[in-house]
Formats: sequence, structure tokens, C-alpha cells
Amino acid sequence: MKYEKLFSKIAMRNVTFPNRVMRTSMVSGLTTQEGAVTENLIQRYQREAKGGVGAIVVEAAVIIPSKSPFNLRISSDEFVPGLAGVVQGIQDVNKEVGIGIQIMQHLKLAKSGWRQKVEDFKREDLPQIVENHVAAAKRAVDAGFHFIELHMAHAYVLSSFLSRSNTRADEYGGTLKNRMRLPMEVYQAVRGLVGENYPLGIRINGEDFCVSGNTLAQSAAIARKFAESGVDYISVSAGSRFEDALTPAPENPPDPMSGYSGHRMSPWHWWPDGTHVYLAEGIRDAVRAAGFNTPIITAGKIREPSHAERILQQEKADMIGLCRALLCDPDWPVKAKEGREKELVRCMACNWCLEADSRYEKVNCNRWPEGNLNAPDPFLPSGARTVKIKKEG
Ligand SMILES: Cc1cc2nc3c(=O)[nH]c(=O)nc-3n(C[C@H](O)[C@H](O)[C@H](O)COP(=O)(O)O)c2cc1C
Repeated sequence: MKYEKLFSKIAMRNVTFPNRVMRTSMVSGLTTQEGAVTENLIQRYQREAKGGVGAIVVEAAVIIPSKSPFNLRISSDEFVPGLAGVVQGIQDVNKEVGIGIQIMQHLKLAKSGWRQKVEDFKREDLPQIVENHVAAAKRAVDAGFHFIELHMAHAYVLSSFLSRSNTRADEYGGTLKNRMRLPMEVYQAVRGLVGENYPLGIRINGEDFCVSGNTLAQSAAIARKFAESGVDYISVSAGSRFEDALTPAPENPPDPMSGYSGHRMSPWHWWPDGTHVYLAEGIRDAVRAAGFNTPIITAGKIREPSHAERILQQEKADMIGLCRALLCDPDWPVKAKEGREKELVRCMACNWCLEADSRYEKVNCNRWPEGNLNAPDPFLPSGARTVKIKKEG
């Protein structure tokens, strides 16, 4: 087979993924306003699972009751049957794929421009954050997910504790050791719940890409510590921090995607392919040097199967995270496996999907026929819409 490494299995505790393509978490806007699972949401994951991906991380599920319209929720037991329906729906079309869910506590925002910061949490509020994650993890297990990913990247609570921008004066801020305290407490408590046979991964930023944020120096140290604590994988993302967000328009909350840091998370077409591979590689090297084999996942504008295979062969990462490329063409894995690269419909990194929210739309791809909520099946370049990207360089 042409892409031997990409289509080799990988095991984490009691779960074996059939290949090394991981669909990274992607907010879809397909839930009800209250965050419940819908038929549209199930169909989105079914369409992606049908294309042969090795593991799916279901989108960031909110773990606290505070408002966050059209975001998937795992904040109370009432959401468990719907979430179980997502797992069942995926298994109906693909029995092999590993099915995980990302759990996330967000920082609150207001239209006045106010945003909650880690410094706003009182010392006595912190055990509740740990509890929120444990309760959500229990629901994820009850819903039948095979693994859980703790969201410690981007603009949310745990990443904000990890970041250099955390200036709390107590033992939860300031030094790296202190900044890691709460995320590590969350990890340990969730591990206590799920036990030693259940895969528990984390997603961290390889770099925050803002002046007051973490760089690879800190993220490598963070990764080493989690590897030592037995985390099952480390998914490396980047950016999306509030610290360099643009001043919002009046009556709008701050947008972490608006600044340079925000532009790094899902690299646009003017960034090189594999934008963040060096971050995964740096983290992997640090983790391996410390004696741990923890799988490292890289994502960020990886579009060609040959490129994905090269990254794995060169030992820069252990799994390939695909988000937009799989949204665009969910059959990317099966087409690559069967040598049908000519039939791939390529993501243009135009970020039409990322900007869906600003257009008041559900997340969709500009290459699909207009009005579609999923890629057609089959989907071939002849049936795809053209997205004009100005070539530079
Ligand atoms: C519409 C959209 C929603 C996303 N939602 C999440 C999310 O919920 N959690 C997360 O960790 N990353 C999220 N991401 C980031 C992706 O998982 C991924 O890291 C990023 O897009 C780079 O990979 P790609 O080039 O393959 O898209 C999102 C990206 C997009 C475009």
C-alpha cells in the first residue's frame, strides 16, 4: 500500500483506531439553540465516518449551564440520550472508527465587551471546574464514547490557566508549575473517573501566538508533564487567544478569532501546508526525550495524503488531524487508501466554514453544492464548486 504508515493501526489502552487519520473537533452549529443533538448533527458525523476516518473527535461539548447558543452540550444528564444517538449513528455506518468527544468549559463573554478571565475565578470556585469536567466525562462514558479529549487549547478555561497570560497571584497562576495545577487536577480527577482502561487525551496549543502567551518552550514542558501522568494522546493545535483580539464593534463580545492568534488556529490559504507540524514535532521530540511514547497528533492545513504519510514517516507526529479537509471531502481517507487521489475534492483553506457563524449559517463548505449540509455522496471534483484563491508567492 502507498500510504503504509497512514493506514496502519494505532492503539490507546483498550481502543484500536483502524488508521492514523483523526478528525479533529469542529463546532458545527447543527445542534438546537439549547445545544441538543439533532438529526442534522448525526448525519454530519455519519457522512464523515463513512469515508473511512480512523478516529472522530466530536465537537467541543459545553460542560457548564451558562448560555452558549447552538453549541453542543454535555452540561446535564438530559443530553446523554442525544449524545448516545451520535455514537450509535456513527457506528451504524462505520463499526471500526474510534469515537471520542471533546469536553470544554468556556470563559463567559458579554456584548458590553467584557470577558471573563482566569483571574476572576475565586480560589473556592476552582474545585467546581474540576467537578464540571468529571460530571461531563461521566456523561460521555454513559453515552458510549470510546475516548474523551480534554480541551486545553485555544480561548477556553484550561488553556487560559496554562497560558503565560495567567497572572493569578495564588498557586494557580504565575509560574508554569502553578499554571499547570488546575488542568492537571482536572486530568487526574477525570482519569480517576474513567479508570486505567479508557483513553483520555488532551488538546493543547503548541504556541499561543500572542505576546503574553505560551511558546513551544512552555508547551513542550506541559506536554512532558502530561505524558508522565499517563495521558493517552496529545493533540497539538495553536492560537485562537483573546489577548490579541481586535477591539470588538459596539454591542459585540470580543472575538478570539479576530487577531493574529485567531488566524493561526485554522491556517488560511496564505500559510504553507502543514503550518503547525513543527510544533507537533517539537513536542514529540520533548516527550520522546523524556522517555514517553505518547502519541502526538498534528493538525493544520494538511491536505495531501503523500504529505500526511511523509509527516508520519519522518516521525514528526503519530496521527494526522484533519478538520476542514474532511469536512470538504469526507472520503479523503478511502480515496487515499485506494489510490484515488485524483478524485479528492481539496479544501482551499478559504475558511468559509470558520466564518459560517458570522454569516448566521450552520458550518458548511464552500465547495459543496449550494444549500448542502453535507458533502454529496459520491463527491467528485466534477461536482464541486470552484473557490477562487489568489495565488501568492
Ligand atoms: C468551523 C471550525 C470549528 C472548529 N471547532 C473546534 C473545536 O470545537 N475544538 C477544537 O479543538 N478545534 C476546533 N477547530 C480547529 C480544528 O480542529 C483544527 O485544529 C484546525 O481547523 C486546523 O486543522 P485543518 O487545517 O485540518 O482544518 C475548528 C475549526 C473550524 C474550521
